[in-house]
Amino acid sequence: MIIAVDGPAASGKGTIARALAKHFGLPHLDTGLLYRAVGVAVVRSGGDPDNAGDALVGCDFPVGLFDDPELRSEQAGELASRVSIHPEVRTALVERQRDFATQEGGAVLDGRDIGTVIAPDADAKLFVTASTEKRAQRRHQDELKSDPDADYNVTLAEIRDRDKRDSERVTAPLRQADDADLLDTTDLTISAAVQRAIELVEAQKGAR
Ligand code: CDP
Repeated sequence: MIIAVDGPAASGKGTIARALAKHFGLPHLDTGLLYRAVGVAVVRSGGDPDNAGDALVGCDFPVGLFDDPELRSEQAGELASRVSIHPEVRTALVERQRDFATQEGGAVLDGRDIGTVIAPDADAKLFVTASTEKRAQRRHQDELKSDPDADYNVTLAEIRDRDKRDSERVTAPLRQADDADLLDTTDLTISAAVQRAIELVEAQKGAR
């Protein structure tokens, strides 16, 4: 069974995807990490993330980079959002994601274009969202753990920037697949959101 989980930054898609993977006993791939690794690799080698050629070179990032805590920073998220605009970069990363999705037994993948581009034939698709303010609050709470001076308004502006770039890009923009169920987590606790996600997946896999 392939489960596709898409949605904007801090919507809860990563948490939900991990919980679904555990519940259904499937491997999980956070595809955002691939784009984050490309963005960080480009900058570390002195390249320009807005240049398609430089960004493509970054796709040969060393696998050890996945363990680098810098990949989880908002700065890496922004770099990811910039390199992921280039069609060349998206193409370079497709095969890796499809290979993961089509492994025997299935998989859970989360990202922006899993249900639309990477695994359009997935057995279940969720589009996880939440209000912009709620997503900024969640991200801000996370940031406060490592930076007590983190400013909510800066986080809100960053989330808005990323939403805009991700949904307005020409190649594989962030959008809900026609056959994906919408899961709005604005007013849900993590466990309620996970419970709802499991129910939606169960219903979809029975129907397809
Ligand atoms: O965790 P968060 O939602 O903040 O970010 P992420 O899922 O790690 O993704 C970081 C950035 O990578 C996004 O803003 C997208 O621009 C890009 N991305 C993408 O284009 N396609 C994907 N399948 C996953 C991420």
